[in-house]
Amino acid sequence: MSEAAAAEPVIAAEVQSPGQLTAHEIMEREKQYLLQNYGRYPLALDRGKGCYVYDFGGRKHLDLLSGIGVNALGHGHPRIVRVIREQSAKMIHCSNLYYNEYQGKLAERLCRISHLNRAFFCNSGAEAMEGAIKMIRSHGRSITPEKYEIIALENSFHGRTIGAISVTGQPKYRKDFEPLLPGVKFVPVRDDRTLAAAVTENTAGIILEVIQGEGGVHPVCERMLNAARREADRVNALLVFDEIQCGMGRSGFFFAYQQFNPEIMPDVMVTAKPLGVGLPLGVVVANEKAAAAIKIGMHGTTFGGGPLACHVALETLDIIAEMLPAIRQRGDYFRTQLNELCGKFEFVREVRARGLMIGIDLKMPGKQFVTDALAEGLLINCTHDTVLRFLPPFIISEKEIDLAIRILRKLFKKGNGYYKEHLKQQQAAAKALQ
Ligand SMILES: Cc1ncc(COP(=O)(O)O)c(C=O)c1O
Repeated sequence: MSEAAAAEPVIAAEVQSPGQLTAHEIMEREKQYLLQNYGRYPLALDRGKGCYVYDFGGRKHLDLLSGIGVNALGHGHPRIVRVIREQSAKMIHCSNLYYNEYQGKLAERLCRISHLNRAFFCNSGAEAMEGAIKMIRSHGRSITPEKYEIIALENSFHGRTIGAISVTGQPKYRKDFEPLLPGVKFVPVRDDRTLAAAVTENTAGIILEVIQGEGGVHPVCERMLNAARREADRVNALLVFDEIQCGMGRSGFFFAYQQFNPEIMPDVMVTAKPLGVGLPLGVVVANEKAAAAIKIGMHGTTFGGGPLACHVALETLDIIAEMLPAIRQRGDYFRTQLNELCGKFEFVREVRARGLMIGIDLKMPGKQFVTDALAEGLLINCTHDTVLRFLPPFIISEKEIDLAIRILRKLFKKGNGYYKEHLKQQQAAAKALQ
């Protein structure tokens, strides 16, 4: 294929129907009536099909971020649409004062897959993390009131509630809300000795993402996971794995910890994102020891574990179980293509990938690439300033990966110019300091 044809954007013709809202109207209303807490891109999405989304101008975009890892089955998956249609007609919500058919079934399935024992359902990742933190606190307190300390990792991300930011190892998320929970210590991601030194008899829990997502797609190594398990056992603390981003098949394993020695088991695992494939659903799954810390009346939620969300999640788990080999194969294919592409560009530091969780670490800020990608009909994002992050839907085909690579090649050629400019600015800044 010629370079010109290869670089063709995926943008489709305008198909806006008369009377439909314009993107401008949508954005202006939000500016007036919403809290201005999101730095949104100028894109208003109308609908999706498979790996593509369509904006209000009728333009088609290849979505390699899938709603930050939520839309793992793409848009309009026929099996999910069928369950939503049937279950929503039957019953959407029933409170946790009563039983429903699907909460127990989903808990059983998650316990079997994770090899843990008991589940609690909530509505988001951060809320699952809150549940895990309460388990840690209650477990510690059942031993002694001084046992409330938590060890977490630098560079981590666990959500936006007060508890979750208290254990998030990035000052930018914490600074405006301090003082946070007392007794949290952060240790470097690859330093098992510092971890061991930080753990004391007052440590009630250790929390980590098995693959750090928002922190730049950094897999935590087996040595560190081993050390975390050993240290938690040494002082009778709970080990919590945050699998909110890297779990549910994203790494090519149901849960990312399952790629390691089977003895590296958490006491508590939290996951969310694709569990409800867009319906708000998070879960805390615990072994008997951790689950014993939460007794009747100590925790709860109005919405968590409703029949619609749980029925959809059961179907999602079935589909993901069938897809695990394909996720690994597509992940390998994507990584190989990216390595080949990135090897040609001096400004790429490294490609990090586990299954379909992929980061391209640049030697300069990456935000401009995200804006350029948007103009070419490709949705990605930039995290931790320099890492282009890809969380594609699991249904992505090799053809769609090839299309993404063609667009990236075009962007990276332009990126050579950004890099020259970046180096010039760095040299000027260094000179100014002399
Ligand atoms: C690892 C991790 N933990 C927790 C969260 C918070 O999840 P939520 O945004 O659903 O509250 C996220 C969200 O990106 C995440 O990636």
